[in-house]
Amino acid sequence: MPTTARTYTSPSNRGSVIQDIVPPDAKQTFATIGGRTLPVFTAEFWTSKQRQASSLHEISYRACFKPQLPRFFIDRLTEPCDVVYDPFMGRGTTIIEAVLSGRRAFGNDCNPLSCLLTIPRLDPPPLQDIAERLDRIKLVPRVKTGIDLSMFYHPRTMAEIVTLKKYLSGRKKSGREDRVDRWIRMVATNRLTGHSAGFFSVYTLPPNQAATQANQRKINKDRKQRPTYRDVKGLILKKSRSLMRNVTPDQQSRIAEFAKLTALFTGGADKTEGINDSTVQLTATSPPFLDVVNYAQDNWLRNWFNEIDEAEVARTMTVARSPESWSEGMQRVFDELFRVTRPGGFVAFEVGEVRKKNLKMEELVVPLGLKACFECLGILINRQSFTKTSNIWGIRNNVGGTNTNRIVLFRKPS
Ligand SMILES: C[S@@+](CC[C@H](N)C(=O)[O-])C[C@H]1O[C@@H](n2cnc3c(N)ncnc32)[C@H](O)[C@@H]1O
Repeated sequence: MPTTARTYTSPSNRGSVIQDIVPPDAKQTFATIGGRTLPVFTAEFWTSKQRQASSLHEISYRACFKPQLPRFFIDRLTEPCDVVYDPFMGRGTTIIEAVLSGRRAFGNDCNPLSCLLTIPRLDPPPLQDIAERLDRIKLVPRVKTGIDLSMFYHPRTMAEIVTLKKYLSGRKKSGREDRVDRWIRMVATNRLTGHSAGFFSVYTLPPNQAATQANQRKINKDRKQRPTYRDVKGLILKKSRSLMRNVTPDQQSRIAEFAKLTALFTGGADKTEGINDSTVQLTATSPPFLDVVNYAQDNWLRNWFNEIDEAEVARTMTVARSPESWSEGMQRVFDELFRVTRPGGFVAFEVGEVRKKNLKMEELVVPLGLKACFECLGILINRQSFTKTSNIWGIRNNVGGTNTNRIVLFRKPS
């Protein structure tokens, strides 16, 4: 349990929260947005001297953030057992970090993939059970496949993937799917494509962005490469070991205790009926940005493996081409966040730098929060030197050797 947790429930602290949570050496400037003058703090908030993140997070996902980002706010703006929420949870970074910190976690994403990737890590089975289950699953070396993925996989690897897919699908449909199956599904989904021998595929794009079949043919031609055999079971076991490698017994028992209190939903972030009014102490989230990432396209192979209907996901997904349509959709999300946030609770909303810095997302976001009746406490800009790891795991904004996250911090008046 973090010992540095501080909360700001006393009305006397209002207005000073942001100064209290930033380090004294943070650079302070001001920005006028929506008729308000807001403090802007710049420092290396959640990446310098950072504590090592749990290996459990190491599931790649397009545009995921580092665990240290939600952790920064969890430690400072919540107390043990408070509810921490992410309406756009992606791979579940906020959820896992909240549970590891002894908080109750609520999460939501329009893509069912998010639950498939997050739930198993809230209930990790012993490695022995995973090994035994993999031993029992019969993977055949040859099988008829309904899809041409020969540009990604060796025929034998492909047969193993298809048999595993069928096994997992059968277990789910018959109601016999258990935590071990769910774990294997999560790891296999993560191993489908990538750029090292640790993945099932030949060298391709980083694991969080699947190339199209045509693009992969081109990559193979350019690199003069052909898929070689990859041992599906062996790689699942290896990755399972790696995911668990630094999970301490203390963390295991915290996960067991707090995972039971976790509530995860699949749907639009503007309609989260499963979450009661005034329950959330902190939302730490990163929304889909303006036309930057197409999550449906990036996840096409993962969706295929998990029999997820892309068209269905696309119906709720925010894919906005103009600032106006993005703001319209996000206003509904802010109104919903206001409903679920406790009086005195916070929203840490990440905004990216899009379109070559022509557009400052905070200028769109601040008015949305204010219109939803939140107070805007200011903006935190985290500057970090580029790291190779952040690139591999799909952390975005690695532009010109720096990685910048910008957070707009809101509070619901008490
Ligand atoms: C920037 S990613 C979040 C990444 C997350 N912070 C993590 O660390 O993995 C944005 C997520 O929003 C989801 N999304 C897009 N539109 C949505 C909507 N209208 N409602 C709910 N989720 C949505 C996408 O599926 C994607 O997972």
